[in-house]
Amino acid sequence: METNHHFDIIVVGSGAAGLSFINYINEQSDFNKDDITIALFSKKEFSATNTNWAQGGIAAVYSAIDSKENHVQDTLIAGSNMNNQTIVSKVVDEAPNIIEDLINWGMIFDRDSNDDFKLTLEGGHSNARILHNKDETGKLIQVSLENKMKKNSKLSKYEHCQLIDAVKDSNGIFNLIFLDEQNRLSYFSASILVIATGGLGALYSKSTNQNTSTGDGIYFAKKLGAKIQDLAYIQFHPTGLYSQHETAYLVTEALRGQGAVLKNLNNISFMEKYDARGSLAPRDIVSRAIFNEMKINQSAYVYLDGTSLKHELWIEHFPNLFKECIKIGIDPRNEFIPVIPVQHYSCGGVYTDEFGETTLSGLYALGEVACTGLHGANRLASNSLLEAFAFAKFAAQKIISQFEKKEPALNAIIPNSIRLKSLNKLALQKIMTAAAGIERNDSSMKKSIEELKELVEKATPCEKIKKEDIEKNIMYDVGIDILIDALNKKENKGVHYNTSLLK
Ligand code: SIN
Repeated sequence: METNHHFDIIVVGSGAAGLSFINYINEQSDFNKDDITIALFSKKEFSATNTNWAQGGIAAVYSAIDSKENHVQDTLIAGSNMNNQTIVSKVVDEAPNIIEDLINWGMIFDRDSNDDFKLTLEGGHSNARILHNKDETGKLIQVSLENKMKKNSKLSKYEHCQLIDAVKDSNGIFNLIFLDEQNRLSYFSASILVIATGGLGALYSKSTNQNTSTGDGIYFAKKLGAKIQDLAYIQFHPTGLYSQHETAYLVTEALRGQGAVLKNLNNISFMEKYDARGSLAPRDIVSRAIFNEMKINQSAYVYLDGTSLKHELWIEHFPNLFKECIKIGIDPRNEFIPVIPVQHYSCGGVYTDEFGETTLSGLYALGEVACTGLHGANRLASNSLLEAFAFAKFAAQKIISQFEKKEPALNAIIPNSIRLKSLNKLALQKIMTAAAGIERNDSSMKKSIEELKELVEKATPCEKIKKEDIEKNIMYDVGIDILIDALNKKENKGVHYNTSLLK
């Protein structure tokens, strides 16, 4: 049998949350970093993260006409006041420090000729407050974090390792089993487990997420006994580039911030009909309005008209989006872009305290996998990277202030208890998209829960443990939980819109 490698901290996930957490641990000045052992795991290559694909940027107050109170208010309004106000204030207060940290780690934000940050507007923001680097902010953040991580010789790094089982033993140690690319099992243990596995977009037919976003962190946190909260709050980004692909290219909201307008197929700007803020209303409202227009006009998409933007802005601010449009035969300087709402973000997840610790002591959840209270029922644009960094910092502070070495019991290897079924991913995606999408109703949610349970029950057991099958089993489990939470919600708030509650 394999030996058990023990670390003080194991981090699962290599996006903004996981990598910055490691930086913050290493930067604690009152602490000898050599004392602490950390391992980082990623189920694909380290760069396969949603951070890498984040286009918009990070929200922080820098303009003289803006204020932290405005940022707090905008976050609460977008979230339908289902947010935790203390958390919102804490994160907004921390934002300028986070920006400073990122710059110290090598990130470059766009600046104007006075060397001030170029700030852009996105939906739901009352002021321009999004710091960015063109339309590839996430990619550059990922690169600067990875550069730092790769130079960290004390860090143990494991790519292409899928977490397949997790148990907390009576000594408070997390015992974990990973599956590597050659389908070999390895056994690890940790005193502190940090889940930073991102979202769950792969449960839907179309998502802006990486196809590795299968809800793993939610599944394992639940299995370990931690509280899961508000899975019903699945955010749809209003403007995914219309295509036949499962992964939708994001048409950043910053484009609407620069003046692009949503139009239906009759060339009529329709958002004013739904909300006074027009194309820059919060995402839940814009996505529902597009969904409605598509229904009324029986169209497969709507248009985003960016033809009024100055031509040089396409190259200065949106070079990658411009290239992507040209690739599909659309010149966005003169032609409208076909867009549809696509799954984008899980506002709920693993419930945490103000330091990112879950209800299970020693288990932390950071980034999209977490439900910290910041987003409420609908995340404000560009608050997600901010949340990932802020909670990575708060978690590192709490862990270091309480740190004490623990050792695992000798030969403490948990038996492999994994029982997998052979499941169909497309069937799940179809059900989730229809029943837990932008518009929901009681009967379809009830029917879908039963259907998913039956598909699992009737499926044949897998003979071997394979990564794809683990993912599919996790996705079915999380999918059922999303539907149950949605069915149990008795109020329509933010992204949760159940037509049965209107009657
Ligand atoms: C975007 O660029 O529209 C996405 C930003 C976000 O999801 O916050």
